[in-house]
Amino acid sequence: MCGIVGAIAQRNVVPILLEGLQRLEYRGYDSAGLAVVKEGQLQCVRSTGRVADLRERSAATEGPLGIAHTRWATHGVPSERNAHPHLSNDRIAVVHNGIIENYEELRASLTVAGYVFTSDTDTEVIAHLIHSHYAQGLSLLAATQVSLSELVGAYAIGVVACDEPDRLICARRGSPLLLGVGIGEYFIASDVSALLPVTRQVVYLEEGDVVELKRDGYRIFDAGGAQIERPVQTSELSNESVELGAYRHYMQKEIHEQPQALANTLESVCNSQSLVPGIFGAEAAATFADIDSILILACGTSNHAGQVARYWLEELAGIPCRVEVASEYRYRVSVPNPKALVVVISQSGETADTQAALNHAKAQGHVHTLAICNVPESALVRLSKLRLLTRAGPEIGVASTKAFTTQLAALFLLTLVLAKQRGRLTEQQESQYLHELRHLPSAVQKVLDLEPQIAKLAERFADKHNALFLGRGMHFPIALEGALKLKEISYIHAEAYPAGELKHGPLALVDKDMPVISVAPNDALLEKLKSNLQEVRARGGELYVFADADTHIREADGIHVMQMPEHAGYLSPILHTIPLQLLAYYVALQKGTDVDKPRNLAKSVTVE
Ligand code: F6R
Repeated sequence: MCGIVGAIAQRNVVPILLEGLQRLEYRGYDSAGLAVVKEGQLQCVRSTGRVADLRERSAATEGPLGIAHTRWATHGVPSERNAHPHLSNDRIAVVHNGIIENYEELRASLTVAGYVFTSDTDTEVIAHLIHSHYAQGLSLLAATQVSLSELVGAYAIGVVACDEPDRLICARRGSPLLLGVGIGEYFIASDVSALLPVTRQVVYLEEGDVVELKRDGYRIFDAGGAQIERPVQTSELSNESVELGAYRHYMQKEIHEQPQALANTLESVCNSQSLVPGIFGAEAAATFADIDSILILACGTSNHAGQVARYWLEELAGIPCRVEVASEYRYRVSVPNPKALVVVISQSGETADTQAALNHAKAQGHVHTLAICNVPESALVRLSKLRLLTRAGPEIGVASTKAFTTQLAALFLLTLVLAKQRGRLTEQQESQYLHELRHLPSAVQKVLDLEPQIAKLAERFADKHNALFLGRGMHFPIALEGALKLKEISYIHAEAYPAGELKHGPLALVDKDMPVISVAPNDALLEKLKSNLQEVRARGGELYVFADADTHIREADGIHVMQMPEHAGYLSPILHTIPLQLLAYYVALQKGTDVDKPRNLAKSVTVE
């Protein structure tokens, strides 16, 4: 979702801006643009095409100071006039990520003051507002600070002015932004991957920070306006981790990275002989001793991980667990329980709804908070008392894959630690589960070996418009996840149901044109599931079953069986996710969609 890059240097920054935007493409966007300051002039180029198109259009543009942006439309359709940067009087340019809630009132008062609006965006008010204060004689920094105090909403912004060739101003509140530190040159970006070609030295900005960058240094001012130091950190992100390598798409690469991602996430635990609460933070033991239930808040795929965890937590740890969609919870009147552990799950750690839900929970009196997150410096990690970082590495494909399975691994650890603390895990069980976790990466690798068969199977979906996914118990959320993957990247309408619900309605949809995909682990519900599958077959539905080795579900007319290598007990949902990811991927290839950047979607949903 919207990406920002900016640079102040002694060289032409346009190639840096364009390379940065290219690296932020994965966040999702529908238009792009840049503005550079050179010899007292602002040059601005915008495009509704890809960054490659912007590159062509900016061939003649250069300058040592500039800002650039990929836009994911919120206010106003995707169009060149709505693309950023937005200019005020051709003197000030602004790029913005976030949503300004009071933009209509500001727009009205700025219009009265004589400003002419040329776009439908909320961002343009920021440009005019800064200009209005700058025109009164304030410095660019002060004009920005005053303007920000008048804004209600979320933002990360970059600002340049043609009369200020030695200054780049930026600020963040509610949307991510960081500084890159070079030698005699400084950068801003929405995430580190954009800056890797120029620096790995970064400063993570805090909520409310405003920064003035010059070629010989920078000054950070906190939310109260006081000048403050923030630590410079060396990013561990490597260039290779964000490059495609031999794969055709990032999604395919990330599906294949799962054995390593799981091994990395589980590393500290698998090297030890026993589980300790300390993996969640220093205060974890005391916190876990004080809780009587769990409240999981998350969106999309991360919410599905939470739904699997509910089965684990209640069954193994004996602790009541509720899972809520963050965007609903934040506005729902619920009954707070200060003894609940609030667990937020997020790949990016920046999802606006999940952040708002966590803040809402805190405002309601919840004090025990834990983030399970893939980005260490993210807002959710900073907002939570406890944390467990998934170590999936950067996830570039919009459809979440390795983040999901590593979230599941982290949630299984949480389950085991709580089960142990509540006296529900014998030493023998603990070492058995640790053994199974150590084995998990190689078990996942074996499932990945099914890829050629799944690619073949996917051909049968090329002409389909609908699909039904079935699962039972802790595999029902895996069916939900399979349906979500298929719909988001192949645009096939897909629904998931607990198989037992079929006869309560969805069976009416089943006919020969409705593929029914079923997750069939060898667990206590297998025989029930088999009956549900018969119900489908009896109505002429075509079945695609991902079955564990010893389920005895056989290929037959209208029943296609993918044999899963082994049954992984409680970890089975992790294994059963992999073929559904591969199925969605190969169906998307059949459909010819933009797999890594599906239409209308953004990677990191930083607006409501
Ligand atoms: C689906 C997907 C989304 C995200 C959701 C939450 O493939 O990626 O549903 O899971 O937007 O994002 P995070 O996990 O970053 O909070």
